[in-house]
Amino acid sequence: MNLNVRPLGNIGVEVLDVDLREPVGDDLKAALEALWLEYGVLAFRDQEMDVSHQIAFSSIFGELARHPLEVKLASDHPELFVLDTGSNPARDEVETSYWDGVPLIGRLPWHIDLHYTGRPNRGAVMRSVTAEEGGGNTGFCDLAMAYDALDAATQERIQGLEVTYVFEMQRSKWRFADLEGFEPGPKNPKKPSDVGFPDFPDSVYPVVVTHPVSGRKVLEVVEQFLDRFENAADFGLTGDEADALLQELLDHVRQPQFQYIHEWKPGDIVLWDNWRTAHCGTGTPIGTRRLLHRTTIVGDVALGRHLDA
Ligand code: SIN
Repeated sequence: MNLNVRPLGNIGVEVLDVDLREPVGDDLKAALEALWLEYGVLAFRDQEMDVSHQIAFSSIFGELARHPLEVKLASDHPELFVLDTGSNPARDEVETSYWDGVPLIGRLPWHIDLHYTGRPNRGAVMRSVTAEEGGGNTGFCDLAMAYDALDAATQERIQGLEVTYVFEMQRSKWRFADLEGFEPGPKNPKKPSDVGFPDFPDSVYPVVVTHPVSGRKVLEVVEQFLDRFENAADFGLTGDEADALLQELLDHVRQPQFQYIHEWKPGDIVLWDNWRTAHCGTGTPIGTRRLLHRTTIVGDVALGRHLDA
């Protein structure tokens, strides 16, 4: 089956002329899986779905995951992660930080869902329920495209390096995060239990991960929790040289040609390949209502490992 698509921007496609409330037959499922694998990010507009439609649609891609941050799960549907801004000021305050003096709720740097477990989700479906104009956008970055765009010498140089991520709540301790203009909010969490997260040991990934389904090479460099190369010394790199190389890779990954920024409208659905793309949240201004429902698909392959394992 051929589906009508059009490019979203630099990466990803919008899929046209489908109603995701309808049961998905084998042909449509195969066509959607093929597009998911080919493009990494698929958007669908004007989908009048409810929670049960979202769960049914997401389930065609695999078993649904339960996120470890239990306080964000819907009580009646634990497979549903709720991103709700503008309805609970006390909760918003915990997620508010300042950017050049402007308060923003839920601003998140580039990350991969469940990266800190060593078993990132296979993918995710995000549905916009309420999206006032000017609410936060979600950015997507294609790390397979970023790998392909490296010059051959760099591809060879980084082969075999391992990169370590530290599960740390305080943004100012993320060594490679872009902190320009950043001030933490007074209620920002200091440790995982402050927001109801369990703790996780450091996780280590090959800096070049092979996508388990497509076989494509993925540059596993995202700024959230990024700390160091685990085996830099084996490659003859000093600490400074290792940091400089990581920064170089991060600067490469951050280029707009690998990105698509989604401006949410009610009824939007975005499906992404979490083994291949990173995503970020630009943050929601105070007083703006935004409600997104996310379902995730279990990652049945370990792409990384815990350091203490
Ligand atoms: C997420 O990381 O899934 C949330 C991104 C957003 O709030 O835009």
